[in-house]
Amino acid sequence: MDPIELTRKIRMALAPCSLGAWPTPLDTRPDLESASRTEVSLKREDRSSPRYGGNKVRGLEFLLAGLPAGTVCVTIGAVGSTHCLATAVHARHLGHRTVLAQFPQPETATSRALAAASVDRADFVARSRSHAGFPLALWRAWRTAGRLGRPRWIPGGGAAPAAVIGHLLAGLELADQLPAPPDAIVLPVGSGGTAAGLALAMAVLGWPTTVFAVRVAPALIANVWRVRRLSRGAVTLLTHHGIPIPDPPSRTPVVLDGLGAGYGHPTPAGEAARELAARHGVTLDPTYGAKAFAALRALPTGFRRVVFWVDDADLAVDMRGAGPPLLFVHGFPFDHTMWKHQLAGLTRWRRIAPDLRGAGASSAPASGYSMRRYADDLAAVLDGVGVEQAVVCGLSLGGYVLFELLRRHPDRVRAAIFCDTKAEPDSDEAKRGRDDLAAVAQRHGQTAVADRLVPNLLAPQTLENQPDVVRHVREMIQRMSLSGMVGALRALRERPDSRPTLPTVGVPTLVLGGEDDRISPPSVMEAIAAAIPGARYERVPAAGHLAPLEQPLAATRILGEFLEGL
Ligand SMILES: Cc1ncc(COP(=O)(O)O)c(C=O)c1O
Repeated sequence: MDPIELTRKIRMALAPCSLGAWPTPLDTRPDLESASRTEVSLKREDRSSPRYGGNKVRGLEFLLAGLPAGTVCVTIGAVGSTHCLATAVHARHLGHRTVLAQFPQPETATSRALAAASVDRADFVARSRSHAGFPLALWRAWRTAGRLGRPRWIPGGGAAPAAVIGHLLAGLELADQLPAPPDAIVLPVGSGGTAAGLALAMAVLGWPTTVFAVRVAPALIANVWRVRRLSRGAVTLLTHHGIPIPDPPSRTPVVLDGLGAGYGHPTPAGEAARELAARHGVTLDPTYGAKAFAALRALPTGFRRVVFWVDDADLAVDMRGAGPPLLFVHGFPFDHTMWKHQLAGLTRWRRIAPDLRGAGASSAPASGYSMRRYADDLAAVLDGVGVEQAVVCGLSLGGYVLFELLRRHPDRVRAAIFCDTKAEPDSDEAKRGRDDLAAVAQRHGQTAVADRLVPNLLAPQTLENQPDVVRHVREMIQRMSLSGMVGALRALRERPDSRPTLPTVGVPTLVLGGEDDRISPPSVMEAIAAAIPGARYERVPAAGHLAPLEQPLAATRILGEFLEGL
């Protein structure tokens, strides 16, 4: 059967909604041969959507199709479930709501970032402290969903026959992307939908390719029978729509064990594989991708040409809405969630908020941190989401990066917003302070850094009256990687003098700072505004160094007025 014709027929008959960009790229990666001992190509399912990618988008196109307005999608997963987050992000994009019931999983930087993002994006999240308490969380989720609107059940992991068809289409894309069938496809298997779809695709194409599904969940959930049941369900559904396709052979896929101590527990082999992949610029998560890549490295000989399914979503850029692009650059040692009020509030803009390298959910290389690198990373983020030019809003370190962006990539900046930042470089004393803080981080960890910084970062009123803001700031610091922290301190210490840049800024500029900012006080901010031609200065009362987070209403209003005037 011609794969292109089959894809067209399936899309016509099942009318999925449009959430992703297809086909996802297939990268041939000779550089990975030493790391993987095979000729490996990467199927970049992580690039499926700039809003929030990963393999789950495939299934959601089918699962969320045709839902009536006001639907409340209810689904389940671990606190760090990409399925939960993908459902929340994409359902919201379609105008629906999401309620999640979640059970615990071991904490890693990725699971913490996913947990924070799903609370941010879902309408309600019920979490249990233990697996035993999960039924109660599920009950609370259903009850809340019923109050919010018309509930619709989305199975855990999105594992349903309709979703399998999305993954079948992913497999069919290979026909056009590879000169010959590969020896193997390797992917992680959790709830089984992805593996079921790929097994079907191989049957449809008549390829002799072995699908290796690396089990990362308990055998009760991730097993060949479940995968087979899902693929049979998809065959039945397609037959029902008048599209008969062959069923895969009964032992397909081949399930390999990659679980280790349990779901979400990193394994030594997985972590070694993750580090290796990271060295080649491939970000894998400890729960899924890392364990599957470890299995790829241990494949029996004879499997030379292998496609590795990169299912992981890139969590590192939060993208919302449509309209003129607005890029937010966070400060040190924070992440993009410091802009949460502006991301929620400035709805007429296409908001793009990345985590800088080493922060939040971005990968954290051991070295290579500088203003130049950060600025080039931002230009790459803009390239990645197809944006030529954006209004760029940077706070503190984000402001220094914005100066660098104006020097290195001036065409990418439509207007500039400097929040709580400085133009001058570090004094000798400030440089010593950076070294001290790096030593504290390395010796005592992130909590010690938070203890040291927080009292100085926030206004006295915030420290006293806004415990949620204090907690949020501490959490951002605590989840930052140590290498990212130490790298950022080095970049801050070595940053160039931006004072000569000030008179050259040729775009509309807003300068905004907290009235009680002790790090970049109003006099410093005023001087920046005075030196930039035509810049406007605004002071935010009762705010310190994190004005947009401490006084969201006032700060967002000032930003909104400036943006409206562009
Ligand atoms: C990043 C990632 N990879 C792989 C999988 C496994 O896919 P499936 O549940 O379809 O087996 C998941 C499932 O949640 C996932 O989040």
